[in-house]
Amino acid sequence: MNLIKYGYRISQSSQFSRSISSSTTHHPTIYFTGIQPTGIPHLGNFFGSIEPWTELQNTVDKETQMMLSVVDQHAISLGPLPADQLRSNTHQMTASLIACGVDPKRTLLFRQSDVPHIAQLSWILGSLQTTSKLARLPQYKEKQQRFKKGDIPVGLLTYPLLQAADVLTFKATTVPVGEDQSQHLNLLGGLAYAFNKTYNTEIFPIPKQLTRESHARIRSLRDPEKKMSKSSGGERSRIEITDSRESIIEKCTKAQSDNAGKVTYDKENRLAVSNLLDLYSAVTKMPISEIQFSEWTTLDLKMNLAEAIDKKLKPIREKFDELQKSGEVDKILLENGEAACEIAEKNLKEIRRVVGFL
Ligand code: TYM
Repeated sequence: MNLIKYGYRISQSSQFSRSISSSTTHHPTIYFTGIQPTGIPHLGNFFGSIEPWTELQNTVDKETQMMLSVVDQHAISLGPLPADQLRSNTHQMTASLIACGVDPKRTLLFRQSDVPHIAQLSWILGSLQTTSKLARLPQYKEKQQRFKKGDIPVGLLTYPLLQAADVLTFKATTVPVGEDQSQHLNLLGGLAYAFNKTYNTEIFPIPKQLTRESHARIRSLRDPEKKMSKSSGGERSRIEITDSRESIIEKCTKAQSDNAGKVTYDKENRLAVSNLLDLYSAVTKMPISEIQFSEWTTLDLKMNLAEAIDKKLKPIREKFDELQKSGEVDKILLENGEAACEIAEKNLKEIRRVVGFL
């Protein structure tokens, strides 16, 4: 499949290109991505990750392995959560993914903590990484500010090692993610390369980042300088995929905009209004150039946006409610956890032999 034709950007740091071109090992294509169980995903997760994933799932050839992990271990990297909350967040995220079109028959959808091999590989990768490099990553720098010096959880620093282990445990070759994950993906490529070089092996592929060109970064409704996110910005800064029609209308009408008259698309001078147009374009799949907005006031834009989002999310909300009532999610997690473990067990045996544990 020609992914570029489908609007995807494939990236891989050029520093690894020599090692890749001289590699003699063929690694079968395996798609892997992860999402934190923050409960219900927001439109940033939806357009940056979930929707592209379902598109890929429905287009790549049937033999290609596709794996999607609900990364519950990452969810405690900022500190512990109440156990019931974490359990319920994982359940809700899994149900949301299926409601959005992830097909558990086609995608091996599993819970990270069901596969203990990942944590073991993360430890191994830690021996190849320096704390100073991890501490320079922008996401670490930003999040550590929430803590007093000396109180920063270790998990926040080692977060990218666990992310790299997620991907490498399954020898995944391709990682579809939003733009905000690029730094972690670079680090992951570096670790795969360092491992292969240190142990004189080609056991790991150097994974490629796959990002859909359009809507790779959805911005906050309250502060368009920032990305839409669960961990900051407050409830009104994001729309979650099970939000009611009333809540969608309220969040859209209260979204940041300006009083500069009729709607124009001008990212430099009218970022907030342009952000809403970008979101409208993401929801309706109409390029900005085809949206007839020249006669719209900012309120018209907000109302049209709310209407379009509600239309898009209605069937998802309904499917989510159905799944919540059935026992299907627990069954899928149980079966798929076992299937993921089988693959991980085989790969970790090989890795442990290379390292000298076996
Ligand atoms: P997470 O849980 O923050 O986000 C999940 C996916 O959603 C994308 N995303 C966005 N895309 C566009 N605009 C936004 N505002 C936005 N917010 C989130 C993210 O890019 C991501 O694709 N570290 C990862 C989880 C992870 C992972 C992995 C990903 C753990 N292990 C292995 C890939 C492979 C994270 O925190 O994503």
